[in-house]
Amino acid sequence: MIFFGYSAKGPFTPFVSIHTADRNGAITRAEMLEMPFPSMVHDFAVTRNWIIVPNFPLTGSMERAMSGKPPFAWEPDKGTHIAFIPRNGTVADAKWVTAPACYVFHAMNHYEAADGRIVIDVMKYGVAPLFPLPDGSPSTKGDPPSRLFRWTFDLSGKSSSFHEAQLDDRVGEFPRFDERFCMADYRHGWTVSARDVGSGREREEGDQLTHYDLKTGKSADWRPGRGDRLSEPVFVPRAAQAAEGDGWVLSVILRAAENRSDLGVFEATEVAKGPLALAHLSSRVPAGFHGNWRPGPL
Ligand SMILES: [Fe+2]
Repeated sequence: MIFFGYSAKGPFTPFVSIHTADRNGAITRAEMLEMPFPSMVHDFAVTRNWIIVPNFPLTGSMERAMSGKPPFAWEPDKGTHIAFIPRNGTVADAKWVTAPACYVFHAMNHYEAADGRIVIDVMKYGVAPLFPLPDGSPSTKGDPPSRLFRWTFDLSGKSSSFHEAQLDDRVGEFPRFDERFCMADYRHGWTVSARDVGSGREREEGDQLTHYDLKTGKSADWRPGRGDRLSEPVFVPRAAQAAEGDGWVLSVILRAAENRSDLGVFEATEVAKGPLALAHLSSRVPAGFHGNWRPGPL
């Protein structure tokens, strides 16, 4: 297991800890990566040969915090800097790639293509959401959107190149995939997407569940009731050896009109058909964040 922590030498320090644990829980690697500036690092990416840590310009500042200003703020002039640390090397061997200012909370999957290029699929914001400018004023009118992009890096040349392709125009978050295919070229992904973007009432309209077939380019949605919210879609394989995407997707549905929640079970690649089954939950589950599935006896 590879894991990281930001602000690793204290609040708003520009250090990210990198650790690796073996199957017995013993720490086999413990390092500090120094970033160009302190920032919020919500997620990272790992491939067969690389640990990839982003430094987006959502900056942290103790000085601001102590003077009553925003602890975290959007400073796009600082740009995006992405560290590629070899899994068989140290942070001293990191290669850095720079990119225009943007923000990513969550990656979908990440892998090395047959030619060695590194592919990372991300839900990318042009402007970081939730946080203001350093003076406390809003960075945008309304909520900044995030959309699915594919980033491709070629670290083989002298200048590390970076290619970006937008895969869809839906606005969405909470990308997940069939995690048995982590670090592998893959086909299926799921997100919670916003509906009726542009109406200015996305939040009132509610969420929808989206399935992407990244090989054919096809996608499909399922819409719950107006105003309903969905939690992160979690893939469950039909059997251990089932093909990629063969199984179910789970999402907790907050029924806005009734103020209660259901766990929805969907055929993973046929989400438009709606849930195959609903588990009526005994209490309301607020519109939430992440989730995971563990099989076990009833
Ligand atoms: Fe998250």
